[in-house]
Amino acid sequence: MNSTGHRLSTEKYRVELLSRAHDRASFSCGEDALDRYLKETASQDMRRGLAVVHVLVDISTPNAIAGFYTLSASSIPLDDFPDEIVSRLPKYPSVPVSLIGRLATDLQYQGQQCGSRLVVDALARSCIVSSHAMGVHAVVVEATYQSLVSFYERFGFTQFEDSPLRLFLPIRTAKEAVRSLLPDSPDGTHSAV
Ligand SMILES: CC(C)(COP(=O)(O)OP(=O)(O)OC[C@H]1O[C@@H](n2cnc3c(N)ncnc32)[C@H](O)[C@@H]1OP(=O)(O)O)[C@@H](O)C(=O)NCCC(=O)NCCS
Repeated sequence: MNSTGHRLSTEKYRVELLSRAHDRASFSCGEDALDRYLKETASQDMRRGLAVVHVLVDISTPNAIAGFYTLSASSIPLDDFPDEIVSRLPKYPSVPVSLIGRLATDLQYQGQQCGSRLVVDALARSCIVSSHAMGVHAVVVEATYQSLVSFYERFGFTQFEDSPLRLFLPIRTAKEAVRSLLPDSPDGTHSAV
């Protein structure tokens, strides 16, 4: 759960699939590797079915990218999860998860809850897939550096014991987080969660 407990307003922004309409060249988040990914690799990853790239746009400037994240299907060895989770699951070798592989907000938009909007959107989409399309037991994220761990912990993510920069959030907890943080969108997108 986000420690602030604040609901995120949805009026000013919307999330879209990355397309040619978006201005990738101007995006700058302060991490070169992530800027380059968006400019050079993101579209190819979408075409190859390796990731779906979701972009956050400010409705008043719809071509500018306020932030983006990637979402992919992945799996994690069962034994990587803590004992209390393992004891409740069948002894399958691995557990299906959705993976937030990359996430960044443009420097102009940092500190305005845009990163949080992206995380909650990724949780909401993972919950919808889990309820209606494909088994997803948890959402997993790779924090690129230690200080980001606390950013993800705000939403209830927990570190894996053996790889502390990788965190997971059980899908059941993700559903609670989405319900508490996101007002129902007018098109009912999140009512399925
Ligand atoms: C990390 C990042 C996505 C955060 O985006 P943002 O839009 O600034 O995040 P938000 O405004 O939603 O922040 C929500 C809260 O998390 C905190 N937070 C933001 N960045 C943080 C960080 N790096 N570490 C710890 N806490 C952080 C904020 O202070 C804020 O707290 P508050 O609500 O008490 O004020 C953004 O700074 C970024 O893109 N950084 C460069 C790229 C990067 O490192 N990506 C992560 C890859 S896993």
